[in-house]
Amino acid sequence: MSEDRTMNSRKVLITGGAGGLGLPTVMALLKSGATVIVLDRDSLKIKELQSAASGLPGNLIIESVDLSNAEELQNVLRRVHSEIGGIDTLINNAAIYPSKPFEEYSLEEYQLIQRINVESAVICAQALLPGMKENGFGRIVNISSITFSGGWENLSPYVASKGALIGLARTWAREFGAFGITVNCVAPGAFPTDAEKIHPDLEGYTKRIYEHQAVKRRGKPLDVVNAINFFISEESGFVTGQTLNVDGGWVMN
Ligand SMILES: NC(=O)c1ccc[n+]([C@@H]2O[C@H](COP(=O)([O-])OP(=O)(O)OC[C@H]3O[C@@H](n4cnc5c(N)ncnc54)[C@H](O)[C@@H]3O)[C@@H](O)[C@H]2O)c1
Repeated sequence: MSEDRTMNSRKVLITGGAGGLGLPTVMALLKSGATVIVLDRDSLKIKELQSAASGLPGNLIIESVDLSNAEELQNVLRRVHSEIGGIDTLINNAAIYPSKPFEEYSLEEYQLIQRINVESAVICAQALLPGMKENGFGRIVNISSITFSGGWENLSPYVASKGALIGLARTWAREFGAFGITVNCVAPGAFPTDAEKIHPDLEGYTKRIYEHQAVKRRGKPLDVVNAINFFISEESGFVTGQTLNVDGGWVMN
């Protein structure tokens, strides 16, 4: 008898799930009845998520954790695994995005960005992989960024981290495919969240968005949610190692 892989039986762990793109992703998962474990540390955003999610079906578990602290993260993952178990879906979504010219980043700043944006994904994948392998099923989505394709200026540690997530997704896809586990990336373009506030000239940035996008409207978080939903669905099981740009046709590769 085949296992039930529908969303209402799924257990999804998402990092940065209280953020601008994380929150609507969590809401969509809860609406479809999933159990969702959010790892975040922003207490204000967590409160917003709690109130937005109240009354929805599904089961929301929020763990306040600093993803830059490997030991703290590993402890939380161990506890979550023993209390909930069977987590079959991982969305590596958290990121920080400090912006300045390359030569102004200290090595410590560079390393902090890699710890949050990349190493937390590695730690989560290592923690959840044994369970996914045992069940012969898993879905992993890394949230990258089109800045990797475009080589955006003044964001070098961030852009490097987003490239690393694509590299990891490809090797994970190759290594885990035989176990029924797919790994893909969603690369958002420009979405009106906190991430956008790093641009000093927001009006000029908005103009640039419309010039570059083939689709002449602003991206909505739901555009990203729909792409994530495809990759985590049971039906996408023959698609792995891919990166889907969700950017209104800004970059094409
Ligand atoms: N918004 C965009 O236009 C855009 C474009 C391209 C890629 N992305 C990617 O989409 C993803 C989500 O971005 P967003 O726009 O929702 O950003 P956001 O800043 O709104 O959300 C990021 C979340 O990560 C959490 N986080 C950051 N550092 C943490 C830490 N040390 N410990 C625990 N939690 C931590 C934050 O609290 C926040 O809730 C990111 O990977 C980002 O790089 C966004």
